[in-house]
Amino acid sequence: MKNYDFDEIIDRKNTSSLKYDFGPERKKRDDLLPLWVADMDFRLPPEIIEDIEKRVRHGIFGYTDPKDDYRTALRNWFLQRHGVVIKDNWNVITPGVVYAIATAIRALTYEGDAVIIQQPVYYPFAETIKLNGRKLVNNQLIYKDGRYEIDFEDFENKIVSENAKLFLLCSPHNPVGRVWTKEELKRLADICKKHDVYVFADEIHSDFIYRGVKHTSYLELGEEYTEKLIIGTSPSKTFNIAGLQIANIIIPNEETRKSFLIHNEAAGYTQCNAIGLAATISAYTKGAEWLDELIEYLEDNVTFLREFLAEKLPKVRLIEPEGTYLVWLDFSDVTDSHKELEKLIVDKAHLWLDSGIIFGKETALFERINIACPRKVIAQAMDQLYEAINN
Ligand SMILES: Cc1ncc(COP(=O)(O)O)c(C=O)c1O
Repeated sequence: MKNYDFDEIIDRKNTSSLKYDFGPERKKRDDLLPLWVADMDFRLPPEIIEDIEKRVRHGIFGYTDPKDDYRTALRNWFLQRHGVVIKDNWNVITPGVVYAIATAIRALTYEGDAVIIQQPVYYPFAETIKLNGRKLVNNQLIYKDGRYEIDFEDFENKIVSENAKLFLLCSPHNPVGRVWTKEELKRLADICKKHDVYVFADEIHSDFIYRGVKHTSYLELGEEYTEKLIIGTSPSKTFNIAGLQIANIIIPNEETRKSFLIHNEAAGYTQCNAIGLAATISAYTKGAEWLDELIEYLEDNVTFLREFLAEKLPKVRLIEPEGTYLVWLDFSDVTDSHKELEKLIVDKAHLWLDSGIIFGKETALFERINIACPRKVIAQAMDQLYEAINN
């Protein structure tokens, strides 16, 4: 029996929502159906809202630091969902994973040092490297037969030739939807270890894994890979609380953690968001059942999208996601012009998706669609796309 309703359409307008309320500023139009930025159109389950309300009703929101109830909730979540043990002193709270990536870049590398990423990838990786005055090095993923693979040879060659100091790993990978296998991760880890490269493993999407697929946390590779490791995790994607600004950054090695903490303090960040902390504890303690149902719903959304495209828009190719609620679509059989594609999506279909070009210059004919919304909304979006392509 289902306990939660993911079909309800909730009006998010006029909540200062980045997804819904910034069309005029960002796209110069106010009539687009938004399926872009990675948050969800689903409400938290009542039991978690109640815990947040309880905290709000207390009425005092002074400086707040995590205590054992947070550490216990975090430890249990990662043990139960991912089978990994997180020791209490490994975790550092930050307001977000991107903030932690920026902090890690400053803590672990010097200006001008090379930092390696695998495009197409979540665009703040590249932006953060460049804005911090580091050199961006790209190990392009291989796109073959509708699937993405890692070019290990190029990865190692670039690490050596560019003397890369840090690798930003996206695991699972946004936007291509790959959930890297243990073997793939181990090969990357061995190369990084051999050349003394720090790894920031961004595992923010690791709670969204589809049937028959297993996420391997970097921690599972073994203790010998933890010396130069930072793992970015957060309840913000899993429970749709990005606006509450809490991320759990796992740093097993003391030296690495110290370096991170110094730069964290240098940025002036110390205590965390009080409501975010209450929400995180509640979500990690009470949210498992809701998440399980949500993943099933998302999987059915992928099925809907796949079937619609196969039947009605076969020229739009869906890259099969193994996890995440972001689906990568290849439009290269629809048009060979990025400008035309943008016109099609925005001006004709009236959709707001994330254009592939922001994830890397080789994917200008791709779009990323966020399927974490009621199925009716996806159906509406697909009807609009169908009309735009056929008329
Ligand atoms: C791979 C990845 N990392 C980080 C983030 C954002 O994390 P935060 O809001 O905690 O900075 C996202 C959001 O889409 C993401 O996809």
